[in-house]
Amino acid sequence: MKIGILTTGQVDEDKRLVEAATQAGHEITLLKLMKCSMSVCPDEGQIFYDGEEISHSFDIIIPRLNVSYTSYGLAILRQFQALDVYVTDTAYSIELGRDKLRCLQYLMRKEIPFPTTGYADSKDDIENIFKTVGDVPLVIKLIEGTEGTGVFLVDDVKQAENLYATLNQFDAPVIVQKFIAESAGEDLRCFVVGDEIVATMKRESQDGDFRANVSLGGHSSSEELSEQEQKVVLGAAKAIGLNIAGVDLIRSNEGPLIIEINVSPDFCGEQGIEVVTGIDVAAAIIDYAVNGKKLYDQGKGIWLQDDKKAS
Ligand SMILES: Nc1ncnc2c1ncn2[C@@H]1O[C@H](COP(=O)(O)OP(=O)(O)O)[C@@H](O)[C@H]1O
Ligand SMILES: [Mg+2]
Repeated sequence: MKIGILTTGQVDEDKRLVEAATQAGHEITLLKLMKCSMSVCPDEGQIFYDGEEISHSFDIIIPRLNVSYTSYGLAILRQFQALDVYVTDTAYSIELGRDKLRCLQYLMRKEIPFPTTGYADSKDDIENIFKTVGDVPLVIKLIEGTEGTGVFLVDDVKQAENLYATLNQFDAPVIVQKFIAESAGEDLRCFVVGDEIVATMKRESQDGDFRANVSLGGHSSSEELSEQEQKVVLGAAKAIGLNIAGVDLIRSNEGPLIIEINVSPDFCGEQGIEVVTGIDVAAAIIDYAVNGKKLYDQGKGIWLQDDKKAS
């Protein structure tokens, strides 16, 4: 198979995918997103790489899009989809995954558990939704934040409302969320590929921070999920139609709760899921992509391209 990785340059992950694909006997090319361009016209669409046409040069496109390039990345990915090229994740699902609030709305429809969350615009409504969500301490987070930045724990209600209103005012939309105190500083990262959770690790903050993100110094270790937790994790990825996902889960007194679903999740690094669990995540992604392409060609996987899949 000819595989193209549409990448914004997660160097280590890209390298591992190249290794895994080459080992499995496939041809693989790294396509730097910013070197891609396209033309859209009624009779024929085209995609170019460094000026050269690549519209149908690949059997499979695997998107690896960094959050800061989402908009351009999605436009190029949509063009591949429009030209009927098989992609492992659709632009629609990636866009959903980038928006914490939209994501939760899809989870809600499928009755997947997550902490109660509020969203409002006007000052009066902010007071109201804070009451709905519960008592302080409360978590306030940027809808499009990542790596733990833009996630705040506030234990004074006036201060919380003030922070909420200020961030909103500066065009940084935020949600307010019930703080799950019993799981503070601890969460589970579950790496989903297709219908499987290929690896799971527990992350624990090392300095008393309530956020467990590895990017903030969290420590990871291999972990097993209960059957109920597995169901919740797989249901979450499916609810937004994301095939390759980093699903974050916390263990609350009332059972597992989804915190977020990450698009193009990292898997390298000292505290990364491959090193920590010893599982070849890159090989699992390549395997999934190759099988997915075969199903797609048989017409069985056609839904993979359907933007309405996450319904
Ligand atoms: N409602 C919550 N209750 C308890 N801990 C939370 C809650 N929301 C987030 N956290 C902690 O903060 C971390 C970062 O939050 P998250 O929503 O995943 O933002 P980011 O996208 O920046 O990683 C989580 O991994 C978790 O450890
Ligand atoms: Mg997170």
